Amino acid sequence: MSVILAIESSCDDTSAAVLRDDRILSNVIASQKVHEQYGGVVPELASRAHQQNIVPVVDAALRQGGVGRDEIDAIAFTRGPGLLGSLLVGVSFAKGMAQALGKPLIEVNHLQGHVLSHFIKEADDSEVPTFPFVCLLVSGGHTQILLLRSHFDIEVLGQTIDDAAGEAIDKAAKIMDLGYPGGPIIDRLAQQGNADAFHFATPHIAGYDYSFSGLKTSFLYFLRDKLVQEPDFIEQHKADLCASIQKCIVDFLIKKMEKAVVASGARQVAIAGGVSANSLLRQRLQEMGQRHRWKTFIPKFQYCTDNAAMVGIAGYFKYLKGEFADISLPPYAR
Ligand code: KG4
Ligand code: ZN
Repeated sequence: MSVILAIESSCDDTSAAVLRDDRILSNVIASQKVHEQYGGVVPELASRAHQQNIVPVVDAALRQGGVGRDEIDAIAFTRGPGLLGSLLVGVSFAKGMAQALGKPLIEVNHLQGHVLSHFIKEADDSEVPTFPFVCLLVSGGHTQILLLRSHFDIEVLGQTIDDAAGEAIDKAAKIMDLGYPGGPIIDRLAQQGNADAFHFATPHIAGYDYSFSGLKTSFLYFLRDKLVQEPDFIEQHKADLCASIQKCIVDFLIKKMEKAVVASGARQVAIAGGVSANSLLRQRLQEMGQRHRWKTFIPKFQYCTDNAAMVGIAGYFKYLKGEFADISLPPYAR
């Protein structure tokens, strides 16, 4: 039995979680509202908000988990990638607490955390993937098709050559002035829209790689031309625009992933990261699984966007291997 306290502070969510082995006891997330008015994350404000949130968030995670400080066996923290100032807050806090308690530290790669979130166990004992499986990792900063042969043997089959899928969605929302982060807003508005109302082309990229930066430009030019004739165009076609751009991005994601999975020979597929909360992507993954008789794994909503539970589960697997981190380790941005 091991109790792990996990800390995540790589971007704009301050989160702490407590796990007993692979079972989640608590997962507390403080999202930072301060960035909304700027239409994106402001790094300096993010690190300040982390500093305000970290103590109450860790405190709440321990309380909700019913665990005392003296019961903690190790402290896992996100070392990178992410915003350096944000990471520093979580990393310094983890080091301080580990030193005070005389407990070991475990460093976790944020992306590995997203992917391993499928192994978080809850009271309901839901099924977890078996190796090998392919996971599409889609977040605000990353888009990768990964083949997992074990928890830590991960091969990148394909990835974006420029923007991440979440970035493209957020930019589309920004162009339409819908608010930040755009993903959940586009997802919601798209429910009432016709996804075939407008067609946006995706680029032809070799192999299993993606590209999303051109899509943003074509979307921008399309709207510019329309707005010249109809100033209310966006307002009147908001739902259709959201549904169409969402479908374009999701279809592109799934098409490439499907090719990569077939070539890999894996028979289990998963999605992870903030964009895996998208309802159309979740539906399309299910459909793809049914077409091929692949087993599909879709994370619960609370484990899609940034959270410390995923850091805790990755930390747990490292704990089992005895992989501890030196207290002098600095965070890394990339
Ligand atoms: O994993 P995450 O919380 O942070 C990063 O590590 O980047 O992902 C954030 C991204 C944002 O781009 C956000 O718009 C997107 O996930 N997102 C969604 C949805 N919920 C969050 N995108 C599409 N549909 C959603 N429902
Ligand atoms: Zn993330």
